[in-house]
Amino acid sequence: MKGEENMLNCIKAWMELLKLGNVTHLRKELNLFFRGNVIRILKEEGWFEFLSVPRTAQEMLEHFEYQDGTFLKEVLDTLVSDGTIQRLNDEKYQFIPPLDEGWVIPRIFTESMVEIWKLHAQAIPERLKSNYIDFSSGINLFNWDDVLTDKLYEQIRRAAFAFSRALSRRGNFLDVGCANGHGTAAIWSYYFKKGSIRKNDADIHIIGLDPDENLLVIAKEEFHRHLMKHLPLSKVELERYSSTFPEFKKGSVLEIPFEDETFDVVYASQVLHWTDAKNAVREMLRVTKPGGIVFGTENFYPRANRYNNLHFLVVREARGFFYESDLKQWALQAGAKKIQFCTPISIFLIKK
Ligand SMILES: C[S@@+](CC[C@H](N)C(=O)[O-])C[C@H]1O[C@@H](n2cnc3c(N)ncnc32)[C@H](O)[C@@H]1O
Repeated sequence: MKGEENMLNCIKAWMELLKLGNVTHLRKELNLFFRGNVIRILKEEGWFEFLSVPRTAQEMLEHFEYQDGTFLKEVLDTLVSDGTIQRLNDEKYQFIPPLDEGWVIPRIFTESMVEIWKLHAQAIPERLKSNYIDFSSGINLFNWDDVLTDKLYEQIRRAAFAFSRALSRRGNFLDVGCANGHGTAAIWSYYFKKGSIRKNDADIHIIGLDPDENLLVIAKEEFHRHLMKHLPLSKVELERYSSTFPEFKKGSVLEIPFEDETFDVVYASQVLHWTDAKNAVREMLRVTKPGGIVFGTENFYPRANRYNNLHFLVVREARGFFYESDLKQWALQAGAKKIQFCTPISIFLIKK
């Protein structure tokens, strides 16, 4: 019975994802986009010219005055992984023309989304010199607002809620990495539509947590505006529910500012690759009550794209993508009872 229920929830999640269009096409477009971003930057940097004769990683470090040999190896291995450059027997790397610079803007991306990812790719040479960027540093906040309001986030969130059946739970809900709070507002509206929220009284108490103060400012200031996108309620009508609105709090998933076993539900969508996922999972499970759930969305290897991964690694704390088997191991080590996965833009569901 349990198995059938899971399958049914997974089908519901798939149906939400399919509203984004053909998932295989979408993945192809995303891969081309992220690869193209990196290739452009490395070409401008003079990589392909320099690698037209075989070179060692050490020669690359010296020539370009890079400092981070580990990250350099990651970039080189990424180029080797799809045959863009060759790794020769003597640990040298070589580029043999022609260079495929194919690039496409994914149909589901807004202009702002394109701009932000380009900025992350442009940060790769500096990162090779050991200079990092912050999550929203130098990035126009209006753009972030636009990006996180994107249909992609909406549909993967809906898919995650369908699979986890989180709406049937009550109590304390933690939205980890809530960013501009647009998702948090959508989550409030899901519970509202389900009847879990009444005037000045609710079955669910939502907290949005993010370390980025700039994004939290947007979350607090624009909560009403975000809500009204999801609900047919006026600002005045909404005000009557104000005591049930989420609280937005500054904090990291690596040090969640709450006591052990505080939450019934912990949710992290597209957050774990921006941080140290292993410790994040341990911390999320610490604040989850026994019988509670930790769920969210993540892009796992081998489906996740290595060029995309490089875009995250320019941020100091980010460790990038990992495998489902890693998450399973970390969760079980941290005391989880069970972990399940569903759909290609993967949903994970951890039961404590
Ligand atoms: C792609 S956004 C998440 C979007 C949001 N969850 C949603 O579904 O709309 C990634 C978020 O992770 C946050 N983040 C990065 N490191 C974090 C950490 N250590 N703890 C909590 N959040 C973190 C970033 O500040 C950013 O807001």
